[in-house]
Amino acid sequence: MAENPFTPTFGTVPYVMAGRDELLSNVKNALSRSGRDPLLSTLLIGARGTGKTALLTCIRQEAEQAGWVAVNVVALPGMLEDVYEQAMAASSHLADLKPGRHLTSVTIGPLSAEWEAEQLRQWNWRTRMTGLLDQLAESGVGLLITVDEAKADLDELIKLVSVYQLFITEGRKVALVMAGLPYQVHRLVTHKSVSFLRRAFQYNLKMVARADVETALVETFGIGGKAIGGEALKMCSETIGGFPYLLQLVGYRVWEAARRDETVSIEAAERGIEQAMSEMDERIIAATFRELSPGDVRYLQAMLQDKRESRTADISSRMGVSSGYAAKYKSRLLAQGVIGEPAKGWVAFEIPGFKEYLIERISE
Ligand SMILES: Nc1ncnc2c1ncn2[C@@H]1O[C@H](COP(=O)(O)OP(=O)(O)O)[C@@H](O)[C@H]1O
Ligand SMILES: [Mg+2]
Repeated sequence: MAENPFTPTFGTVPYVMAGRDELLSNVKNALSRSGRDPLLSTLLIGARGTGKTALLTCIRQEAEQAGWVAVNVVALPGMLEDVYEQAMAASSHLADLKPGRHLTSVTIGPLSAEWEAEQLRQWNWRTRMTGLLDQLAESGVGLLITVDEAKADLDELIKLVSVYQLFITEGRKVALVMAGLPYQVHRLVTHKSVSFLRRAFQYNLKMVARADVETALVETFGIGGKAIGGEALKMCSETIGGFPYLLQLVGYRVWEAARRDETVSIEAAERGIEQAMSEMDERIIAATFRELSPGDVRYLQAMLQDKRESRTADISSRMGVSSGYAAKYKSRLLAQGVIGEPAKGWVAFEIPGFKEYLIERISE
């Protein structure tokens, strides 16, 4: 019997990527074109579970197929060194890439290998990257760097972006794709040292169109040896609401519920959906809720009476606090991805189902 084909695990590339065909084929074109394409500097923006990490992986795969060297780091201390080391390792099949190649000519006298190695480590990151890119250029190979969980308060990331900008100015074949929560990416593009990022292509992962969700469900169920259609399919796609993580979770549970059947029945869909939704509560919403402070919760409560977006000025007056005080909680909640800032002065719940969960919790 076939295995369950759904992958409700963070960071996993699903069998079928819903709704990303257009972006991926544009990226593919950008990578195979000889000129400089705006897509080569891209920011992927989306809440937890919208598929940023999976999309970064697919983009790297496209790049490798187009003959680029691709490396991936998470925005954490040590990331620059990681970029360099991964790029070296990934390029080792090309020509004779030796880290010390340019250095040997400037070393004078009988110096030990250790000394040389140490000098090498100290060597400015940009200089080392330049040497590497020179050698890649000899084979016409480009370098794609992807950065996951991008955030503005990491100096190394700011440095990476600044150096990348220089590489572009020098006409080098480089690409940078970064992914992060809306708030973090917003802070990054408004950071004064990397203003060129404002011209980067921004791709919002928000919600996948209904038709794409249904196509992905049909195809993925097909891989798992089952057919789905009609009302059962409609119920699933309605529940999923375009949210990629939920697509996997609902698909996974519905497939389990229909384990013995070749076609997914309405009953199986109902059972699967019910289970998926309670897990969604447990895995994403309750886990996020537990991390909130009482002040965070009060801020969110003050948002509840608005239908969709809330005006920040209304929130502080409902809380009976100054706008500066409320802003402190706003930025904490933005950073956690619980709320988003659709426009200046407006906030909204970002995680599907979070608002409903909160209403239930406070009426307990
Ligand atoms: N385009 C997509 N279509 C269907 N499922 C997806 C898609 N992108 C991601 N997923 C699935 O959604 C879940 C979350 O993806 P992930 O890339 O970890 O999200 P993020 O990095 O934004 O938190 C994973 O289970 C993944 O397999
Ligand atoms: Mg991720």
